[in-house]
Amino acid sequence: MPKDRTSEVDEKTEVIMIVQDVLKQEDYGRGIVRLDPQIMREFGIKSGDYVRIYGSRVTHARAMSSVPMDMGTRFIRMDKIIKGNAGVRTGDKVRVRPVKTRVAHRVVLAPQEHTIRISPELDRWVKKSLIDFVVTKGDTVLITLFRRYIPLVVVGVSPSSYGKVTEATVVEIRERPAEAPVSVPTVTYDDIGGLKEAIQRIREMVELPLRHPELFRHLGIEPPKGILLYGPPGCGKTLLAKAVANESEANFISIKGPELLSKWVGESEKAVREVFRKARAVAPAIIFIDEIESLFPRRGAGYADSGVTERVVSQMLTELDGIQPLKNIVVIGATNRPDLVDPALLRPGRLEKLIYVGPPNMEGRLSILKVLTRNVPLAEDADLMELAAVTDGFSGADLAALVREAALEALREDIEAKKVGMRHFRSALKKIKPSLTPEVLKYFAEVSKMFRGYGITEERKEETYVF
Ligand SMILES: Nc1ncnc2c1ncn2[C@@H]1O[C@H](COP(=O)(O)OP(=O)(O)OP(=O)(O)O)[C@@H](O)[C@H]1O
Ligand SMILES: [Mg+2]
Repeated sequence: MPKDRTSEVDEKTEVIMIVQDVLKQEDYGRGIVRLDPQIMREFGIKSGDYVRIYGSRVTHARAMSSVPMDMGTRFIRMDKIIKGNAGVRTGDKVRVRPVKTRVAHRVVLAPQEHTIRISPELDRWVKKSLIDFVVTKGDTVLITLFRRYIPLVVVGVSPSSYGKVTEATVVEIRERPAEAPVSVPTVTYDDIGGLKEAIQRIREMVELPLRHPELFRHLGIEPPKGILLYGPPGCGKTLLAKAVANESEANFISIKGPELLSKWVGESEKAVREVFRKARAVAPAIIFIDEIESLFPRRGAGYADSGVTERVVSQMLTELDGIQPLKNIVVIGATNRPDLVDPALLRPGRLEKLIYVGPPNMEGRLSILKVLTRNVPLAEDADLMELAAVTDGFSGADLAALVREAALEALREDIEAKKVGMRHFRSALKKIKPSLTPEVLKYFAEVSKMFRGYGITEERKEETYVF
């Protein structure tokens, strides 16, 4: 007899609960949920037992008893990390069931977005932070390093899809990002160092029209449908796109050019259609297309072409040309290889505005360092001005790596270290090298010249401008 879905839910082992926020600050980031004490008793759940939570995703957490006030409420209290892992929000109903404690033999983690450099200290620190946590494949875990958060995605757990991390667990961290689902960006303009002019321009071209479409309609001005951010790697293009989405209160749909192309035949065009459909459904929205040069390669750019590119491009142009201005959708493309972009993409009605996100000068580096160390307890001797002066050729990403390495240096000295000082930065400087080599900078100087054909008049300044 076919089983009815509801009959699979064993009444005695599963309960519907209501998601609530944590009450105590110290419960954040511990991988625990607090349950209605009555439910704990009814289900024989003891503090420290594991529960499986079924939201729009499935995750696991350690259960603890909640305050007496929650008695009989069916509340399950969790922090926003667990909410994210369960795919739920405050007020949602979730199914909860106790599960057996399993020990993970091996856990594989990967950064969410950026390539990171792994060192034995980071490995040790991550493992130390995760001891007694129950991790589930697909979860995001937040590792705190001097009050800075490093989000890592659990890409693998064995022998089962979840398990507790113990001293005996082998924790492996990958350097390359996992393909993670898109989340709503939390980046604000305050998280960006330098790039003042780029921020101002993107606000005028994207934020203002998204926030006040009626203003533009009234004045009969058509805001740009799309803009292209270009500049050397690691200087803030992705950061800027996320910040403008967040500050415009727009939904952010992010895709990578090469990912679209790697789909099955016919699937790529469908994926493009799907992206625009989703954007229309959730407008105001920003569609962010990273590594856009792979989708719109200039002829002879050396991209292997099986006809897929052509079909994807024509689908993309159909969608772009079809979006009505003032419909609250903006497409932002980003590339660090602007010379490979087909100029057809830059025509009016497409990505018609270009914003250069250039390498930081000394002042820019200082403000980036300030942003990056905002939550790092610096020792008195840590001199950011001096660091800004000696980091010529460092991109923002290089500076982020430097700060992280200095923090790791401090931990290397003493795993309970409380401050990061100049000597830690000095040793970090021996390891982290600038990625903006003279060749890279020369290349961007030439590219800017090339773009002069598209209404570019200004000579390249050191930081940022807009054409
Ligand atoms: N201007 C900046 N202010 C603060 N942090 C920055 C800045 N630029 C880069 N960073 C740091 O470097 C990381 C990488 O930056 P981002 O992803 O924005 O670079 P990108 O220009 O998109 O590079 P790519 O061309 O490789 O995609 C950021 O997450 C941030 O930590
Ligand atoms: Mg980027």
